[in-house]
Amino acid sequence: MKTKLSIVDPKAPLEAPLTEAVALLKNDEVVAFPTETVYGLGANGLSEKAVAKIFKAKGRPADNPLILHVADLAMVAQVAEISQAGAVVEQLGKKFWPGPLTLVLPKKPIVPNLVTAGLSTVAVRVPAHPVAQKLIEECGFALAAPSANRSGRPSPTTADMVLADLDTKIGLILDGGRCDIGLESTVVDLSIDSPAILRPGRLIAAELAPYLPGLAEYTATKVQQETPRAPGMHYQHYTPDAKVVLYADIEAVKDFLKSESARKPVVITLAKGLEMGNAEVIYFEGLEALTQNLYYTFYEAEQNEVDLILVPQVEERGLGTSLMNRLKKAASFSI
Ligand code: TXA
Ligand code: MG
Repeated sequence: MKTKLSIVDPKAPLEAPLTEAVALLKNDEVVAFPTETVYGLGANGLSEKAVAKIFKAKGRPADNPLILHVADLAMVAQVAEISQAGAVVEQLGKKFWPGPLTLVLPKKPIVPNLVTAGLSTVAVRVPAHPVAQKLIEECGFALAAPSANRSGRPSPTTADMVLADLDTKIGLILDGGRCDIGLESTVVDLSIDSPAILRPGRLIAAELAPYLPGLAEYTATKVQQETPRAPGMHYQHYTPDAKVVLYADIEAVKDFLKSESARKPVVITLAKGLEMGNAEVIYFEGLEALTQNLYYTFYEAEQNEVDLILVPQVEERGLGTSLMNRLKKAASFSI
């Protein structure tokens, strides 16, 4: 299949590429589109035939459920049972939607089992990107959309990254520029008595806690012990072609680089002015900048045939928790 890449102006009214995307989606085809977090690979979330094409294009295991993207609270209620958690969903929705928050709720029968990987719950979110919003509005149905990468690879934050992963596998990519956030949404399970973060993201526990008293920071061990609640989280993830190694101490990096026979190493750092011999140094001013650019930096490194990427470990607090969650999965080991 030939993959078409069409530029869309997020601010413009409905124009040709969007109309084409809507027609494809209404016809049970898949389309990649930008969200504020990462690019999604969308399809009609209420059509089993359409959703099956997402799994096929990504090579995604069938036991990893998808997020439904909806326009508003009313649309949440079409796919999820909110009688129990209604007040909380409303409060959270008012505060954080549209935005990078995904809620796991009991599912309604209208949602195909393929979307939820057979679970009794469904994940929903209201995306903030105008292109995503227009698509949902024009389609009139929930869009199932995982990140638009081949399964196991870093999430795409530009249309070029989608193309690099899914060329010939999908018909259309809407190019809405670079994603603002660059990291996937925070997934919160509200289907249980004590709500829990299943996947940490840009939205951190401290921001959610006022609405969810007692909400704990995400901890890998807790979720790993309860794998059925976070089905996707046990897969190796976010892995670029280059070897990724985490470092705690920059002195150790110097020794490591001497011992490794890397042809083209890159050292990512949060420390300004660092020099590392013949390794390329990429500096980010703070956690937010690193988070936003991490996946794109992996991609650029791949394009430049970098074979080793050293990434600093960060403290597992707040956004650092989310960043380390992805880094530990991307990394081969730590030094
Ligand atoms: O920011 C995002 O969330 C992006 C954009 C495109 O919206 N989407 C995304 O989707 O990251 P995906 O499929 O790559 O990750 C969805 C995560 C997976 O870890 C999956 O296991 C989890 O959400 N999930 C989906 N449905 C679930 C459910 N019913 N119960 C528990 N976890 C669920
Ligand atoms: Mg993903």
